[in-house]
Amino acid sequence: MVDLSVSYMGLKLKNPIIVSSSSLTNSVDKIRRCENAGAGAVVLKSLFEEQIESETQNLEDEAWPYTHPEAFDYVRQMGMRMGQDQYLELIRQAKEEISIPVIASLNCISPRWWNNYAKQIVRAGADALELNIALIPTGFKQTSRDIEKIYIEIVESVSRTIDLPIAAKIGPYFTCLPETAEEFKRAGVSALVLFNRFYQMDIDIDKLELIPGYHLSSSDEIYLPLRWIAILAGRVGCDLAASTGIHDSAGVIKQLLAGANAVQVCSHLFLKGVDRIGVMLKEVEAWMEKHGFRSIEDFKGKMSQESSDRQDYYERLQYIKALVGIE
Ligand SMILES: Cc1cc2nc3c(=O)[nH]c(=O)nc-3n(C[C@H](O)[C@H](O)[C@H](O)COP(=O)(O)O)c2cc1C
Repeated sequence: MVDLSVSYMGLKLKNPIIVSSSSLTNSVDKIRRCENAGAGAVVLKSLFEEQIESETQNLEDEAWPYTHPEAFDYVRQMGMRMGQDQYLELIRQAKEEISIPVIASLNCISPRWWNNYAKQIVRAGADALELNIALIPTGFKQTSRDIEKIYIEIVESVSRTIDLPIAAKIGPYFTCLPETAEEFKRAGVSALVLFNRFYQMDIDIDKLELIPGYHLSSSDEIYLPLRWIAILAGRVGCDLAASTGIHDSAGVIKQLLAGANAVQVCSHLFLKGVDRIGVMLKEVEAWMEKHGFRSIEDFKGKMSQESSDRQDYYERLQYIKALVGIE
């Protein structure tokens, strides 16, 4: 019998599969389904900063330049599907009825609002907090430093306020991710989630209208987070959770080999149902037995850049040699 347990942000998880923040985790019933399917933990659907704002002031008066247009529309047109109080109630109920760790999630675009609300999340009983920080840098006069500063200010302001493990879920668009990752660590994160997959936009060429792009990932999307987990593992002083493109047990195993402490799965569970978690876990177990690994720790990070004697392989960006015989 192999041991699938892992440590993530100081939490003991019975296995490394976490259900990502999404509508798969927006009610206690759905969270229970994830637990019954075998999930090691869940990240609740995010509460968007604009949802807090809309209860706090008139959105039209907003001066902050980074508001998400779609969240703005969502809050204004569809009303508050889940406000602050309901969110806190979801955390409380989940903690009463569910035994796996429950990670709350806030979608942040500014360092405001959090002092009060983050404390309430702690009181509601969340085991940890994931900050889904996503700014689209459309300003022609902004520098990457300006943008990174906002990310760090958000983490600092939350970590100053609460004594709870904090993860930052970020996108891949940083100029020098290793340096930025260290800054996140210094600002107080216990983990980085690499990477968020952003809402995609598309164009309807008949109606000449903007439309949403396909919202679920494919298994090909694993390569970007896989490279960065492998490069950062063991070097940033915080845990890493892999997110995006994990659609099977091979994806889970690859990310653990690269050095992830845990993996987050979303699209695959939308496509195939949450019971796939149990199947993936069985396959991970079978793979571990086949390779003689008795615990995740036995192979975690075995394929990270830090553990490799061919570090240059991780930095190969151009097709010089890789495709010989294919091109
Ligand atoms: C329908 C849907 C809703 C999502 N809602 C959130 C959210 O509220 N907060 C968040 O941090 N990520 C959200 N995500 C992103 C997922 O948590 C995940 O990071 C992303 O889908 C990439 O993982 P995957 O390849 O396993 O799908 C959502 C994704 C989908 C498909």
